[in-house]
Amino acid sequence: MSDTAAVTRHAPASRLLHWLTAVLVLTTIPAGLIMVQEGLPRPVQDSLFLYHKNIGPVIGILVILRLAVRVARRPPPLPISLPRLQALLAETVHWLLYLTLVLMVMSGIVRVQAGGFPMELWDPLMGGMIGKDEALAASAKAFHDLCKTVLIVLMAGHIGAAAMHGLVKRDGIFSRMWPPV
Ligand code: HEM
Ligand code: HEM
Repeated sequence: MSDTAAVTRHAPASRLLHWLTAVLVLTTIPAGLIMVQEGLPRPVQDSLFLYHKNIGPVIGILVILRLAVRVARRPPPLPISLPRLQALLAETVHWLLYLTLVLMVMSGIVRVQAGGFPMELWDPLMGGMIGKDEALAASAKAFHDLCKTVLIVLMAGHIGAAAMHGLVKRDGIFSRMWPPV
């Protein structure tokens, strides 16, 4: 890797955490969408709920780690060839992605605990933080659902832009986040 390539890439820890988060989010969303469908065989539904509830908090931890790494290792400056408005839009989408992920994790945890359900593997660490409260559970469920829609829209824009840079423009933006290690 040349010196130039080294300074125009995100730090290795950021890249690894980005791709780990991406894989987990891209599997947690379909798991969530499928598990709430009516008429699913019980074992399938249970497995999806188990995966979803166990992996959700892991995503929260990865986001916190990513933000910590971001503070310690600032992202490399964007190329000056990128129009100012486009750079601002990309930055805004990145921060909204972080915010939406945190809100998804928090609302998911509230929905489960206020609904009186187990946190599965996370029970020893965070079970029983919130008592049973049907009204709170219903609000958290509605909020989780709303955040899901926002997250999917943001991700479609983000992945679309990444594909455009990586496949069409080939301007080096994609390789800022590639390879994962
Ligand atoms: C970034 C992390 C998360 C993502 C992307 C995510 C995504 C989703 C999606 C797409 C749904 C389906 C919503 C619908 O169509 O009605 C869902 C439902 C659900 N999620 Fe999450 N979720 C996350 C974190 C969590 C966490 C941490 C928990 C709890 C530990 C959780 C618990 C639930 C539950 C219980 C439902 C079913 C809601 C219902 O009763 O209908 N989620 N999630
Ligand atoms: C196939 C899927 C994905 C691709 C191809 C992709 C690609 C990229 C690329 C190339 C960058 C670097 C942009 C730059 O340096 O200006 C980036 C940054 C970022 N991506 Fe993704 N991404 C994907 C999925 C995701 C997912 C699922 C999330 C979270 C839901 C996500 C969240 C972020 C965030 C927050 C940043 C900003 C990093 C920072 O500066 O802190 N990405 N992504």
